[in-house]
Amino acid sequence: MNQLAAVIAVCALVPGVHCAIGWCYHQASCNDSTWPIIAPIHCNGSRQSPIDINSTSAEPDSNLTAFSFKNYSSTSALKTIRNSAWTVKVTLGSGVQISGGGLPESYDCIQFHLHWGNGSSVPGSEHTVDGKRYPMELHIVCSKSSYHRNTSLALLDPTGIAALGFLIEETSGEATPASWHNLTSYLPNITNSGDSVSMAPRISLDDLLVGVDRTKYYRYLGSLTTPNCNEAVVWTVFKDPIKVSRDLIERFSTTVRFVNNSSPFMTNVYRDLQPLQRVTTQVTSSSACTELCVCCSLALVALTLAAKDIY
Ligand SMILES: *[C@@H]1O[C@H](CO)[C@@H](O)[C@H](O)[C@H]1NC(C)=O
Ligand SMILES: *[C@@H]1O[C@H](CO)[C@@H](O)[C@H](O)[C@H]1NC(C)=O
Ligand SMILES: *[C@@H]1O[C@H](CO)[C@@H](O)[C@H](O)[C@H]1NC(C)=O
Ligand SMILES: *[C@@H]1O[C@H](CO)[C@@H](O)[C@H](O)[C@H]1NC(C)=O
Ligand SMILES: *[C@@H]1O[C@H](CO)[C@@H](O)[C@H](O)[C@H]1NC(C)=O
Ligand SMILES: *[C@@H]1O[C@H](CO)[C@@H](O)[C@H](O)[C@H]1NC(C)=O
Ligand SMILES: *[C@@H]1O[C@H](CO)[C@@H](O)[C@H](O)[C@H]1NC(C)=O
Ligand SMILES: *[C@@H]1O[C@H](CO)[C@@H](O)[C@H](O)[C@H]1NC(C)=O
Ligand SMILES: *[C@@H]1O[C@H](CO)[C@@H](O)[C@H](O)[C@H]1NC(C)=O
Ligand SMILES: *[C@@H]1O[C@H](CO)[C@@H](O)[C@H](O)[C@H]1NC(C)=O
Ligand SMILES: [Zn+2]
Repeated sequence: MNQLAAVIAVCALVPGVHCAIGWCYHQASCNDSTWPIIAPIHCNGSRQSPIDINSTSAEPDSNLTAFSFKNYSSTSALKTIRNSAWTVKVTLGSGVQISGGGLPESYDCIQFHLHWGNGSSVPGSEHTVDGKRYPMELHIVCSKSSYHRNTSLALLDPTGIAALGFLIEETSGEATPASWHNLTSYLPNITNSGDSVSMAPRISLDDLLVGVDRTKYYRYLGSLTTPNCNEAVVWTVFKDPIKVSRDLIERFSTTVRFVNNSSPFMTNVYRDLQPLQRVTTQVTSSSACTELCVCCSLALVALTLAAKDIY
């Protein structure tokens, strides 16, 4: 308790740091290295996230089948958008679910939020792939359906939470894709910590995840990437990035603030890399497809020959 009090006290003395919650990402007084003091059971645990994913050592696992996404096409699923002091978070209505994807049961998706650096030149994704950090990362957080959206219960289960990670890459052009233009148009309404506005029905999760082949992904068992760092998360990191134009990426680090108008812009909101974990990946369809295609061609040839024989 004394250590916790000390952390909060130190935080209070550091101008601009949003330490009401007792932790921060990159200021020396409250960064990742201090998290185990406020959350000793988990933040120094043995399956912490995020990690660097080594694409060549990810082991193929035939259990990692395709996902099914329920209500991801619904334009009324995104309910409110909020500045939560460490991220921008969108709450999802009931009925948004995922299943398949090698998960033990279906999961209710409750919210998504983002991680970023400082504009497109200082990348701030949480996961990195082969050492590459992307400008941003989107996390969709889903809780086992059997817990009926009670995340406290889900956090006690080693696979209670399924988190979907989407890396965001900078692309040329302006205000593209349109879904992200719409999403970022809400940022001026939530510049201060605690600000929240309702979203009008317009964009769906499918619209935001544009361009991603959702059958290609990495899988590992990890944790929440903020205190209390609970080791309850089945992570899925999709291989394809979402491509968002630079102007929209920069809106995040130049619009919302950690606290209020007199505090710094919210930048570098990502946790540093944690020790590696065993990563698996879906079985590539290329080898199966090649075999299938050869079989199909042979069958066609055989059929053609057979037809010739008959007529
Ligand atoms: C955290 O702060 C400590 C000093 O308190 C510093 O040594 C360390 O490099 C910092 N780590 C990160 C990840 O910023
Ligand atoms: C984490 O830290 C706590 C106390 O700070 C300690 O009791 C525990 O053994 C540590 N766990 C690991 C995995 O290092
Ligand atoms: C990735 O894994 C491969 C195979 O295990 C290894 O040879 C390579 O050094 C690893 N790369 C990195 C960046 O760790
Ligand atoms: C695949 O799933 C089966 C049945 O749940 C399990 O026994 C097996 O260990 C899994 N394979 C891998 C590679 O995890
Ligand atoms: C989800 O879909 C069901 C019908 O499949 C619909 O009744 C419900 O309103 C949808 N929920 C959201 C949040 O769009
Ligand atoms: C972010 O970048 C701007 C310039 O683009 C710079 O003025 C600011 O100090 C940077 N902030 C952080 C926290 O690095
Ligand atoms: C979640 O479940 C726990 C344990 O059953 C219970 O104490 C708590 O009130 C529940 N929370 C909500 C929001 O229902
Ligand atoms: C986003 O969608 C809402 C609801 O349809 C609309 O009012 C708003 O003008 C849109 N913003 C942009 C920038 O497209
Ligand atoms: C956002 O702020 C603008 C300007 O103050 C206002 O016109 C608009 O209605 C607000 N939008 C929402 C969704 O609250
Ligand atoms: C901003 O927040 C700080 C710290 O909570 C407070 O002291 C200050 O009065 C606030 N400023 C404004 C303009 O609200
Ligand atoms: Zn996250």
